[in-house]
Amino acid sequence: MRIGFIGTGEIAACIVRALTGRGHEILVSERNAQVAAELTRLPDVSAATNADVVVQTDTVILCLMAQVAETVLPTLPFRPDHQVISVMADMPLTRVAPLCSPATDISLTIPLPFIDRGGCPLPVYPDTGSVAALFGGENIIVSCTSQDGFNAHMAACALSSVVLADIQHTADWLAGLTGDAAGAEAYVAALIAGYFQGMRFDGAGEVQAALDSLSTEGGFNATLRDHMAPARDELTRGLDAFRPRLGLPDA
Ligand SMILES: NC(=O)c1ccc[n+]([C@@H]2O[C@H](COP(=O)([O-])OP(=O)(O)OC[C@H]3O[C@@H](n4cnc5c(N)ncnc54)[C@H](OP(=O)(O)O)[C@@H]3O)[C@@H](O)[C@H]2O)c1
Repeated sequence: MRIGFIGTGEIAACIVRALTGRGHEILVSERNAQVAAELTRLPDVSAATNADVVVQTDTVILCLMAQVAETVLPTLPFRPDHQVISVMADMPLTRVAPLCSPATDISLTIPLPFIDRGGCPLPVYPDTGSVAALFGGENIIVSCTSQDGFNAHMAACALSSVVLADIQHTADWLAGLTGDAAGAEAYVAALIAGYFQGMRFDGAGEVQAALDSLSTEGGFNATLRDHMAPARDELTRGLDAFRPRLGLPDA
């Protein structure tokens, strides 16, 4: 496939690294010049102007900041047969689509920087098949049937730092008793990672099954989980607080 990137910053670089070496021709825009220079060291990556990126490719991945996109995209020569994938947060389909006219195969997704290692969950709206065709093999595609459903993934994504903070907090508590900060971090991080190893991430209840296996009444796991129940109510309140920002209906 001939794949172009408009906007060559942090997330574009991660996506290029995910796609390199797979038989694609990749064209990145000359901005950011430093990132573009690094990426063009890869044998299947070249740099060009924004317009040439669009002219010379079939799939265009939009990696601009939203306010820049409003001025840059309308100047570009999109064709009706282009596939466009936008990774721009805060840019719903109703805003992206007119900027890429006459292209109509437009989808939104939310890649994370670790997409270059695979295993990245990718919500997609609308699911035209273009995201799955490029990334489906190594990553987890989650098709969304509405813009609201897609937007809600941005709130859920914020759980990442909550879980990491809880891991760090527990490791610090453990190190306070063992005096071994490195061992404590290694123990707690590997412990949590272990529960996800071997999961298929197919939505078939693997997380509930893991929880069920940790539910012996009076055991350490069930006891701490019950103690922490109010924190999960707080989590719901925190997620709900994103509703206005994401244009989601009230709870
Ligand atoms: N970073 C993430 O983890 C992540 C994850 C998911 C989605 N996103 C979304 O991806 C988009 C980009 O984020 P980012 O973190 O990659 O930001 P970034 O590193 O600032 O990248 C933005 C890129 O746009 C370029 N640009 C600015 N004006 C341009 C123009 N007129 N023509 C072509 N390129 C231009 C910038 O070049 P200069 O540096 O030369 O100005 C830079 O390469 C955002 O909408 C963000 O919401 C980011």
